[in-house]
Amino acid sequence: MSSTYLGIEVIFAPSLFSTRQIRGNSIVVVVDILRAGTTICAAFQEGADKIIPVSSIEKALWYKEKKGYLITGERDGIKLEIADFGNSPLEILRHDIKGKTLVITTTNGTRAIEIAQGNGQVVIGAFTNLQYVAEWLIVQKKNIMILCAGWRETFSLEDSIFAGALTEYLILKESSYSLHDSASAAQEFWRMARGNLASYLKKGSHYQRLVKLGAQEDLDYSVVLNSTKVVPVMENNYFKNILK
Ligand code: MLT
Repeated sequence: MSSTYLGIEVIFAPSLFSTRQIRGNSIVVVVDILRAGTTICAAFQEGADKIIPVSSIEKALWYKEKKGYLITGERDGIKLEIADFGNSPLEILRHDIKGKTLVITTTNGTRAIEIAQGNGQVVIGAFTNLQYVAEWLIVQKKNIMILCAGWRETFSLEDSIFAGALTEYLILKESSYSLHDSASAAQEFWRMARGNLASYLKKGSHYQRLVKLGAQEDLDYSVVLNSTKVVPVMENNYFKNILK
């Protein structure tokens, strides 16, 4: 691939991050549709000021005890005992979090964010902010790595389909991007799913896990395109909504 072109590469699981082809001048879009990424977007839509992602429960507890920050977090989809909210966009929407700092810790999403840090700017992409994150990315004029959080280091259907939706949006608006094979494959997933996204995602194992946990409302919320006009970009160790 010529270095004069900007590339789009999809990393289908955190365990593949070290094998990525794009190495410089890049932005990492972290994707965890169900549900960490969607929850982060919902929190900013509701007026949260900052969101600090941490991969360990101990770190989240430290922030709660020392700084008094609100915690949103889960393990295996189940709300943590120390958490003020579960990792649930709908639960967030029921509380007044305007101007507050939240700390988030989740099974896969915050781990993917941790892996992405130090490898270019980090931004959150979700179906709910698809158009807004895509438009921001185009203006940055950088290589784009779309990192799927997946499930326990492996592939997940919903994150991969979103990677395809984002690729499709980007290439339609800015045709000079070069697609790595992974991005072309993701685009095909999206083309298969887009006619009936909600129904297609039901095949996914994490979707089914969340149905069993009674999170159907979150699932319905997570597949609505462009419902949150936010772009969560990482600065230092926290996310800010740069559209605010
Ligand atoms: C995760 O980060 O693993 C997910 O967001 C899990 C969940 O749906 O709560």
